[in-house]
Amino acid sequence: MFKLVNILFASLALATLARGQTAGTTTTTWDCCEPACGYTSNLSAGARGPVRSCNKTNGPAASGAQNACFSSGSNLAFSCQTYQPIIINSMLSYGFAGHGNTATATCCKCYQFTWTSGAAAGKSMIVQSINAGGITDTDFDIYTPGGGVGDYNGCTAQYGAPATGWGRQYGGVTSDAECYQLPSNLQAGCHWRWQWAGGDINNWKITYKQVNCPSQLTSISGCTPAPI
Ligand SMILES: *[C@@H]1O[C@H](CO)[C@@H](O)[C@H](O)[C@H]1NC(C)=O
Ligand SMILES: *[C@@H]1O[C@H](CO)[C@@H](O)[C@H](O)[C@H]1NC(C)=O
Repeated sequence: MFKLVNILFASLALATLARGQTAGTTTTTWDCCEPACGYTSNLSAGARGPVRSCNKTNGPAASGAQNACFSSGSNLAFSCQTYQPIIINSMLSYGFAGHGNTATATCCKCYQFTWTSGAAAGKSMIVQSINAGGITDTDFDIYTPGGGVGDYNGCTAQYGAPATGWGRQYGGVTSDAECYQLPSNLQAGCHWRWQWAGGDINNWKITYKQVNCPSQLTSISGCTPAPI
């Protein structure tokens, strides 16, 4: 009888844990482009932004700057070096990500996820969505330098990266040692993937839910979503 009750409580606890969580995946990116949430027209309902974008040397993008991935003029907007992951402790990091395919559904919202597969199984991240598109709706495309330029490459214009970015176009560098190919201001965020997460992160499984944003993230991005 006691055993039965214990089993009942254990299953109830599991059900509670799983409630409100969605299954998803993680991938990586660092394309140097102005993020999609840098356009006011892309923000989610009630968000105040847009997210910051930067000039070539990581100062604030000048007014009227055009996305470096779709323009070759002289006043270009790139993503900012401050979008690298931030280690909180050995089990939790903060950061930024592209999430889903519909910018107006996700832009500036924050999510907490826990890996359920891969070397980081059991570790968590709280990320703010600053980009969207080119992934599945349950994927988080984590901003980590050397994470692969993907469909668009602003890193050649910003940093003189190879034509398909550092490492593979999709997935980027394949080892911690390759992080030394990156400019020095981006190396810490590249090492984060190999040293903190313990591997390449691509297609590792997660469960996630939306959370309110830590002020540490909104103060970097300059964008605040509607409270949940
Ligand atoms: C970027 O912005 C900073 C700060 O305003 C400025 O000092 C720097 O000259 C700018 N860089 C470029 C390439 O425009
Ligand atoms: C973001 O907004 C721009 C400009 O309105 C648009 O061209 C682009 O497709 C949008 N991106 C996404 C992912 O919705």
